[in-house]
Amino acid sequence: MILNASGCLDALAAPEIARQLDAFVTKTITPEPRGGNEPVRIAEVDAGMLNSIGLANPGRDVFHSEVLPQLQELGVPIWVSVGGFSAGEYAETCALLHGETIAAVELNLSCPNAEEAPESAAEIVAACRAATSLPLYAKLSPAVWDVREAARAVGAAGADGLSLVNTIRGLALGPGLEPVLGPAVGGYSGPGLKPIALAAVYAAHSATSLPIVGMGGVSSGRDALELLAAGASAVALGTVLFSDPGAPARIRAELDAELEELALATPDEARGLAHEGRRVTARLD
Ligand SMILES: Cc1cc2nc3c(=O)[nH]c(=O)nc-3n(C[C@H](O)[C@H](O)[C@H](O)COP(=O)(O)O)c2cc1C
Repeated sequence: MILNASGCLDALAAPEIARQLDAFVTKTITPEPRGGNEPVRIAEVDAGMLNSIGLANPGRDVFHSEVLPQLQELGVPIWVSVGGFSAGEYAETCALLHGETIAAVELNLSCPNAEEAPESAAEIVAACRAATSLPLYAKLSPAVWDVREAARAVGAAGADGLSLVNTIRGLALGPGLEPVLGPAVGGYSGPGLKPIALAAVYAAHSATSLPIVGMGGVSSGRDALELLAAGASAVALGTVLFSDPGAPARIRAELDAELEELALATPDEARGLAHEGRRVTARLD
């Protein structure tokens, strides 16, 4: 299953790309509209990019009444990414979405570009669990001290799955040694994030049996295969979409070829292979 990473694709502006996906994940929605952080908001850096978008979005009411109905017409299952500044805010948005025909809610518990809620990730998940019966995916930061512990805690609080990983804080300096981004620090994504994402997925898979959407630096079928082997059950594409809008179809084809090379019939058969401690070698016939 191939998804986009939240905030990396505007499905209404590029419906033909959204239709290449198995599900479309929205930009994170907050209770109130947000204009986002001051510019500059994007910087290219070694092996990736920094962003400090700051959760720019129209707010949950406009999203619910105007944007969601249009997204639902795309014919692609919709995951709504929910953000907030307290557990109550997250839960209220979940309650608003309850009963909608959406495939899942992804709780953004890890945006490096906005204030965090005072409650723990598990407390936010528990509040949302009480507000909706929709599948809940908890999106965690790779910067948590112990991914295994965090994964277990949100699972015990009622999460149905995990999304790993969000961006990690990074700083880029300009020629005069001044911060390039408006807020100075932003979220680092792209190829440099891949080993960090692999480690987080590997840790979470060893600690829980929850399904995991793996993301972080995927730009090829091999990258997707590695996330599956580490324990992901689905893969999301983020930064790669900015340079290659055709990435979903390309990476799906590359992944199919990788699986065939290993004589694996489905992506599911690749899940967790890295935990088995044996080498997987190409088919010889
Ligand atoms: C420009 C940009 C905007 C993003 N906005 C969001 C967001 O609104 N919510 C969220 O959960 N993650 C957001 N992310 C993080 C991505 O969903 C993803 O977790 C991260 O970029 C790692 O994947 P990648 O290396 O493939 O880009 C954003 C990333 C970028 C680059």
